[in-house]
Amino acid sequence: MNQYEIAVIPGDGIGKEVVPAAIRVIDTLTDIHGGLSFKWTSFPWSCEYYLEHGAMMPEDGIQTLRNFDQIFLGAVGMPNLVPDHVSLWGLLIKIRREMQQSINVRPAKLLNGLASPLRDPEPFDLIVVRENSEGEYSEIGGRMHSGSDEMAIQSAVFTRKGTERAMRYAFDLAKKRRQHVTSATKSNGISHSMPFWDDVFKDVLKDYPDIATTSNHIDALAAFFVMKPHVFDVIVASNLFGDILTDLGGAIMGSIGIAPAANLNVERTLPSMFEPVHGSAPDIAGKGVANPLGQIWTGKLMLDFMGYEDLGKLLLDAIEHVLVSGIKTRDLGGRATTEDVTSAVIEYLKSCG
Ligand SMILES: NC(=O)c1ccc[n+]([C@@H]2O[C@H](COP(=O)([O-])OP(=O)(O)OC[C@H]3O[C@@H](n4cnc5c(N)ncnc54)[C@H](O)[C@@H]3O)[C@@H](O)[C@H]2O)c1
Repeated sequence: MNQYEIAVIPGDGIGKEVVPAAIRVIDTLTDIHGGLSFKWTSFPWSCEYYLEHGAMMPEDGIQTLRNFDQIFLGAVGMPNLVPDHVSLWGLLIKIRREMQQSINVRPAKLLNGLASPLRDPEPFDLIVVRENSEGEYSEIGGRMHSGSDEMAIQSAVFTRKGTERAMRYAFDLAKKRRQHVTSATKSNGISHSMPFWDDVFKDVLKDYPDIATTSNHIDALAAFFVMKPHVFDVIVASNLFGDILTDLGGAIMGSIGIAPAANLNVERTLPSMFEPVHGSAPDIAGKGVANPLGQIWTGKLMLDFMGYEDLGKLLLDAIEHVLVSGIKTRDLGGRATTEDVTSAVIEYLKSCG
């Protein structure tokens, strides 16, 4: 029996509803498998915790998390209680940085049973590999002067190590998929960092002679995501470009409520963190109507990363089965509750066991 310790941070809003739902689903799956189990330890770190303690997590929070195999997170943010930049940087971004989760992976796939807002799209199945530790999201810069003289400078940071690490991850992933990597560049407009990005891409691709490559400027790439997403397999992008592109990926799937994400420590020296793309959705929190499928699909990414791809595949099959059977939450045009969808996924898994 392989036992894994998982730190759970439900966070705020609907995180507290979809995380327990996804845990029930994953526990059903591990029961069926019989050879592995997860021990879940929950931490109440959230905006409410901030109001009580003056911090999003305890001082030794990062130290505590280091003892776990992986982190399973819901969503963080309750802007009416705590400003977003405080909650995000105090928990989510802190964990990503301290745990050296340098790669962010987000798939987008046309699922059976789900209508894409694109008119009659060909089936698409792509993964965006986003550099998650540097690039445009650096803390280097500042503001000076005020009034009409006010100015701001924000420097982007691209290192060969960070850039190459993201690209190698993308190529290795493409080897297991459809053997194609697209690089998201903008070297026609950004004259230092993006030509550097292109040079590193050309260096890395020499080590992967069997992988076909394309380089697209990010503006054209965004348009292609809408016009012909089926041509893509793996896309590698900088922190900002990847962030924007992956929201578009979620949108063309049909709802932000189903999109999953993984923040990976690729060296596997520290825990990785798995979280859906969506936020805490304060507008629907506490009503029992949140779509749990994004959190459940996030569980698939965790299983895949831990080497249980067979279970991950079964989980995605279950998601598609439930969608095809028409059990859908409001964001997908249905009337089902979080509980209805969760129970339907569990029932399907049991029927497979
Ligand atoms: N990774 C994260 O923790 C994360 C990500 C994004 C936003 N946030 C935070 O969440 C808070 C709310 O942000 P927002 O409103 O911009 O984005 P959001 O993703 O929470 O909500 C956007 C819209 O999508 C809907 N939605 C989101 N997830 C859904 C689900 N699972 N089922 C059904 N509908 C769903 C919401 O009801 C809302 O109408 C903010 O504090 C923000 O900073 C956190």
